[in-house]
Amino acid sequence: MASAPESPRPDEHGRGVSMMFGRIAGWYDFLNHFLSLGLDIVWRKALVRELDHGETGRVLDLAAGTLDVSREILRQHPGWRVIGADFSLPMLQRGKQKLDSPQGLAIWPVLADGRRLPLKDGCVDGVTIAFGIRNILPRETAFAEMLRVLRPGGRLCVLEFGSAKKRIWGGLYNQYLGKLLPVIGKIFSGDAQAYRYLAETIKAFPTAPELGLEMEQAGFDKVYYRPLLSGVVWLHVGEKKARP
Ligand SMILES: C[S@@+](CC[C@H](N)C(=O)[O-])C[C@H]1O[C@@H](n2cnc3c(N)ncnc32)[C@H](O)[C@@H]1O
Repeated sequence: MASAPESPRPDEHGRGVSMMFGRIAGWYDFLNHFLSLGLDIVWRKALVRELDHGETGRVLDLAAGTLDVSREILRQHPGWRVIGADFSLPMLQRGKQKLDSPQGLAIWPVLADGRRLPLKDGCVDGVTIAFGIRNILPRETAFAEMLRVLRPGGRLCVLEFGSAKKRIWGGLYNQYLGKLLPVIGKIFSGDAQAYRYLAETIKAFPTAPELGLEMEQAGFDKVYYRPLLSGVVWLHVGEKKARP
Protein backbone atom coordinates (compact mmCIF):
# COMPACT_ATOMS: atom_id res chain seq x y z
CA MET A 1 0.00 0.00 0.00
CA ALA A 2 2.89 2.31 -0.57
CA SER A 3 2.78 5.34 -2.83
CA ALA A 4 5.09 7.72 -4.60
CA PRO A 5 5.41 11.47 -4.48
CA GLU A 6 3.01 13.59 -6.43
CA SER A 7 4.82 15.22 -9.32
CA PRO A 8 3.45 17.93 -11.56
CA ARG A 9 4.24 15.79 -14.66
CA PRO A 10 2.02 12.69 -14.80
CA ASP A 11 4.37 10.53 -16.91
CA GLU A 12 7.39 11.22 -14.74
CA HIS A 13 5.20 10.57 -11.70
CA GLY A 14 4.01 7.27 -13.26
CA ARG A 15 7.57 6.09 -13.93
CA GLY A 16 8.54 6.87 -10.34
CA VAL A 17 5.51 4.99 -8.98
CA SER A 18 6.11 1.96 -11.19
CA MET A 19 9.79 1.76 -10.20
CA MET A 20 8.96 2.17 -6.54
CA PHE A 21 6.48 -0.72 -6.56
CA GLY A 22 9.04 -2.76 -8.49
CA ARG A 23 11.50 -2.21 -5.62
CA ILE A 24 9.13 -3.23 -2.84
CA ALA A 25 7.23 -6.02 -4.67
CA GLY A 26 8.96 -8.75 -2.66
CA TRP A 27 7.84 -7.33 0.66
CA TYR A 28 4.53 -5.86 -0.46
CA ASP A 29 2.10 -8.59 0.67
CA PHE A 30 3.77 -9.22 4.00
CA LEU A 31 3.90 -5.52 4.88
CA ASN A 32 0.29 -4.98 3.82
CA HIS A 33 -0.95 -7.64 6.19
CA PHE A 34 1.47 -6.67 8.97
CA LEU A 35 0.88 -2.91 8.89
CA SER A 36 -2.92 -3.29 8.73
CA LEU A 37 -3.02 -6.20 11.20
CA GLY A 38 -4.68 -8.28 8.49
CA LEU A 39 -7.54 -5.83 7.97
CA ASP A 40 -6.56 -5.29 4.32
CA ILE A 41 -7.95 -8.78 3.64
CA VAL A 42 -11.32 -7.82 5.17
CA TRP A 43 -11.38 -4.53 3.21
CA ARG A 44 -10.74 -6.27 -0.13
CA LYS A 45 -13.58 -8.72 0.59
CA ALA A 46 -15.90 -5.75 1.26
CA LEU A 47 -14.79 -4.14 -2.01
CA VAL A 48 -15.55 -7.23 -4.07
CA ARG A 49 -18.98 -7.64 -2.41
CA GLU A 50 -19.96 -4.35 -4.08
CA LEU A 51 -19.59 -5.86 -7.57
CA ASP A 52 -22.80 -6.71 -9.38
CA HIS A 53 -23.07 -9.76 -11.61
CA GLY A 54 -23.29 -8.99 -15.28
CA GLU A 55 -23.45 -9.86 -18.91
CA THR A 56 -19.84 -10.21 -19.98
CA GLY A 57 -18.60 -12.32 -17.04
CA ARG A 58 -15.44 -10.18 -17.05
CA VAL A 59 -14.11 -7.76 -14.45
CA LEU A 60 -11.14 -5.43 -14.67
CA ASP A 61 -9.03 -5.27 -11.51
CA LEU A 62 -7.02 -2.11 -12.11
CA ALA A 63 -3.75 -1.42 -10.28
CA ALA A 64 -4.01 -5.12 -9.49
CA GLY A 65 -0.50 -5.35 -7.98
CA THR A 66 0.05 -8.82 -6.53
CA LEU A 67 -3.48 -9.88 -7.58
CA ASP A 68 -5.14 -10.19 -4.15
CA VAL A 69 -8.33 -8.45 -5.31
CA SER A 70 -8.35 -10.51 -8.54
CA ARG A 71 -8.19 -13.71 -6.47
CA GLU A 72 -10.92 -12.47 -4.12
CA ILE A 73 -13.18 -11.81 -7.13
CA LEU A 74 -12.82 -15.44 -8.17
CA ARG A 75 -13.43 -16.65 -4.61
CA GLN A 76 -16.72 -14.76 -4.48
CA HIS A 77 -17.65 -15.33 -8.13
CA PRO A 78 -16.30 -18.63 -9.45
CA GLY A 79 -16.68 -18.72 -13.21
CA TRP A 80 -15.91 -15.06 -13.80
CA ARG A 81 -12.82 -13.90 -15.67
CA VAL A 82 -10.55 -11.19 -14.26
CA ILE A 83 -8.21 -8.90 -16.14
CA GLY A 84 -5.57 -7.85 -13.60
CA ALA A 85 -3.94 -4.72 -15.05
CA ASP A 86 -0.92 -3.00 -13.53
CA PHE A 87 2.11 -1.16 -14.86
CA SER A 88 4.60 -2.81 -12.49
CA LEU A 89 5.88 -6.11 -13.90
CA PRO A 90 7.50 -7.26 -10.61
CA MET A 91 4.17 -6.77 -8.78
CA LEU A 92 2.28 -8.83 -11.39
CA GLN A 93 4.99 -11.51 -11.42
CA ARG A 94 4.75 -11.79 -7.65
CA GLY A 95 0.97 -12.12 -7.98
CA LYS A 96 1.25 -14.79 -10.68
CA GLN A 97 3.32 -16.97 -8.37
CA LYS A 98 0.34 -17.11 -5.99
CA LEU A 99 -2.17 -18.42 -8.54
CA ASP A 100 -3.22 -22.06 -8.47
CA SER A 101 -4.11 -23.73 -11.78
CA PRO A 102 -7.83 -22.78 -11.97
CA GLN A 103 -6.98 -19.20 -10.95
CA GLY A 104 -4.19 -19.16 -13.52
CA LEU A 105 -6.75 -19.81 -16.25
CA ALA A 106 -9.32 -17.29 -15.02
CA ILE A 107 -7.03 -14.38 -14.12
CA TRP A 108 -5.26 -12.63 -16.97
CA PRO A 109 -2.44 -10.36 -15.75
CA VAL A 110 -1.90 -7.48 -18.17
CA LEU A 111 0.96 -4.99 -18.08
CA ALA A 112 -0.83 -1.71 -18.73
CA ASP A 113 -1.15 1.89 -17.61
CA GLY A 114 -4.57 2.66 -16.13
CA ARG A 115 -4.62 5.88 -18.15
CA ARG A 116 -4.36 4.03 -21.49
CA LEU A 117 -6.03 0.67 -21.17
CA PRO A 118 -5.58 -1.81 -24.05
CA LEU A 119 -9.25 -2.85 -23.78
CA LYS A 120 -12.33 -2.36 -25.93
CA ASP A 121 -15.19 -0.05 -24.96
CA GLY A 122 -17.81 -1.66 -22.71
CA CYS A 123 -15.97 -4.99 -22.40
CA VAL A 124 -16.26 -5.53 -18.61
CA ASP A 125 -19.13 -5.72 -16.10
CA GLY A 126 -17.16 -4.17 -13.28
CA VAL A 127 -13.95 -2.38 -12.40
CA THR A 128 -12.22 -2.67 -9.04
CA ILE A 129 -9.30 -0.56 -7.89
CA ALA A 130 -7.83 -1.10 -4.43
CA PHE A 131 -5.24 1.31 -3.04
CA GLY A 132 -4.45 2.31 -6.60
CA ILE A 133 -6.32 5.50 -7.47
CA ARG A 134 -4.20 7.51 -4.99
CA ASN A 135 -1.16 6.69 -7.11
CA ILE A 136 -2.53 7.72 -10.50
CA LEU A 137 -2.19 11.19 -11.97
CA PRO A 138 -4.29 12.69 -13.39
CA ARG A 139 -7.18 10.85 -11.75
CA GLU A 140 -9.72 12.12 -14.28
CA THR A 141 -7.89 10.34 -17.13
CA ALA A 142 -8.01 7.06 -15.22
CA PHE A 143 -11.71 7.56 -14.34
CA ALA A 144 -12.46 8.26 -18.03
CA GLU A 145 -10.73 5.01 -19.04
CA MET A 146 -12.59 3.01 -16.39
CA LEU A 147 -15.90 4.48 -17.60
CA ARG A 148 -15.01 3.67 -21.21
CA VAL A 149 -14.25 -0.01 -20.62
CA LEU A 150 -17.33 -0.59 -18.40
CA ARG A 151 -20.51 -1.81 -20.05
CA PRO A 152 -23.57 0.40 -19.49
CA GLY A 153 -24.93 -0.35 -16.01
CA GLY A 154 -21.53 -1.72 -14.88
CA ARG A 155 -20.00 -0.69 -11.57
CA LEU A 156 -16.74 0.92 -10.53
CA CYS A 157 -15.73 -0.05 -6.95
CA VAL A 158 -12.90 1.93 -5.37
CA LEU A 159 -11.12 1.03 -2.13
CA GLU A 160 -8.76 3.69 -0.86
CA PHE A 161 -7.40 5.23 2.31
CA GLY A 162 -9.37 8.17 3.57
CA SER A 163 -7.74 11.55 3.62
CA ALA A 164 -5.73 11.86 6.80
CA LYS A 165 -6.40 15.61 6.93
CA LYS A 166 -8.85 14.80 9.73
CA ARG A 167 -7.73 13.45 13.08
CA ILE A 168 -8.82 9.84 13.58
CA TRP A 169 -8.97 8.22 17.04
CA GLY A 170 -7.90 11.46 18.68
CA GLY A 171 -4.87 11.75 16.37
CA LEU A 172 -3.46 8.30 17.20
CA TYR A 173 -3.90 7.04 13.63
CA ASN A 174 -2.29 10.21 12.21
CA GLN A 175 0.72 9.67 14.48
CA TYR A 176 0.98 6.04 13.40
CA LEU A 177 0.82 7.07 9.75
CA GLY A 178 3.41 9.82 9.91
CA LYS A 179 5.91 8.34 12.40
CA LEU A 180 5.64 4.59 12.99
CA LEU A 181 4.67 3.37 9.52
CA PRO A 182 7.74 4.73 7.64
CA VAL A 183 10.04 3.22 10.28
CA ILE A 184 8.46 -0.25 10.07
CA GLY A 185 8.35 0.01 6.26
CA LYS A 186 12.07 0.80 6.19
CA ILE A 187 13.03 -1.99 8.58
CA PHE A 188 11.42 -4.65 6.40
CA SER A 189 11.56 -3.37 2.83
CA GLY A 190 14.67 -1.20 3.24
CA ASP A 191 12.72 1.55 1.46
CA ALA A 192 11.83 4.29 3.91
CA GLN A 193 10.96 6.61 1.03
CA ALA A 194 8.13 4.38 -0.22
CA TYR A 195 6.43 4.27 3.16
CA ARG A 196 7.01 7.95 3.86
CA TYR A 197 5.25 8.73 0.61
CA LEU A 198 2.44 6.37 1.54
CA ALA A 199 1.81 8.64 4.52
CA GLU A 200 2.23 11.82 2.47
CA THR A 201 -0.15 10.79 -0.32
CA ILE A 202 -2.77 9.69 2.20
CA LYS A 203 -2.56 13.13 3.81
CA ALA A 204 -2.87 14.85 0.44
CA PHE A 205 -5.70 12.63 -0.87
CA PRO A 206 -9.20 14.12 -1.34
CA THR A 207 -11.80 13.59 1.37
CA ALA A 208 -14.53 11.00 0.70
CA PRO A 209 -17.12 13.58 -0.49
CA GLU A 210 -14.49 15.21 -2.73
CA LEU A 211 -13.61 11.87 -4.33
CA GLY A 212 -17.33 11.09 -4.74
CA LEU A 213 -17.75 14.40 -6.53
CA GLU A 214 -14.79 13.64 -8.81
CA MET A 215 -16.45 10.36 -9.78
CA GLU A 216 -19.70 12.17 -10.58
CA GLN A 217 -17.82 14.76 -12.61
CA ALA A 218 -16.14 11.92 -14.50
CA GLY A 219 -19.62 10.70 -15.51
CA PHE A 220 -20.41 8.04 -12.92
CA ASP A 221 -24.00 7.71 -11.79
CA LYS A 222 -25.55 6.64 -8.45
CA VAL A 223 -22.29 7.35 -6.60
CA TYR A 224 -22.22 6.36 -2.93
CA TYR A 225 -19.50 5.83 -0.38
CA ARG A 226 -19.07 4.44 3.11
CA PRO A 227 -16.27 4.36 5.66
CA LEU A 228 -14.46 1.29 6.90
CA LEU A 229 -12.64 1.38 10.25
CA SER A 230 -13.68 4.91 11.28
CA GLY A 231 -12.76 6.34 7.87
CA VAL A 232 -9.20 5.01 7.77
CA VAL A 233 -10.38 3.44 4.52
CA TRP A 234 -13.35 4.28 2.26
CA LEU A 235 -15.34 2.38 -0.31
CA HIS A 236 -16.71 4.37 -3.26
CA VAL A 237 -19.09 2.90 -5.81
CA GLY A 238 -20.42 4.42 -9.03
CA GLU A 239 -22.27 3.10 -12.08
CA LYS A 240 -21.97 3.75 -15.78
CA LYS A 241 -25.35 5.04 -16.92
CA ALA A 242 -27.44 2.36 -18.57
CA ARG A 243 -28.37 2.96 -22.22
CA PRO A 244 -31.59 5.02 -22.51
C1 LIG B 1 -0.75 -0.01 -3.39
S1 LIG B 1 -0.65 -1.07 -4.76
C2 LIG B 1 -2.24 -1.88 -4.75
C3 LIG B 1 -2.18 -3.27 -5.28
C4 LIG B 1 -3.45 -4.09 -5.09
N1 LIG B 1 -4.60 -3.51 -5.75
C5 LIG B 1 -3.76 -4.34 -3.64
O1 LIG B 1 -4.92 -4.24 -3.25
O2 LIG B 1 -2.83 -4.66 -2.89
C6 LIG B 1 -0.83 0.09 -6.06
C7 LIG B 1 -0.58 -0.53 -7.43
O3 LIG B 1 -1.00 0.43 -8.39
C8 LIG B 1 -0.17 0.30 -9.50
N2 LIG B 1 -0.32 1.53 -10.30
C9 LIG B 1 -0.12 2.80 -9.91
N3 LIG B 1 -0.35 3.66 -10.92
C10 LIG B 1 -0.75 2.89 -11.97
C11 LIG B 1 -1.13 3.19 -13.30
N4 LIG B 1 -1.14 4.45 -13.78
N5 LIG B 1 -1.47 2.17 -14.12
C12 LIG B 1 -1.42 0.89 -13.68
N6 LIG B 1 -1.07 0.54 -12.43
C13 LIG B 1 -0.73 1.53 -11.58
C14 LIG B 1 1.21 0.08 -8.89
O4 LIG B 1 2.12 -0.47 -9.81
C15 LIG B 1 0.87 -0.84 -7.72
O5 LIG B 1 1.01 -2.20 -8.08
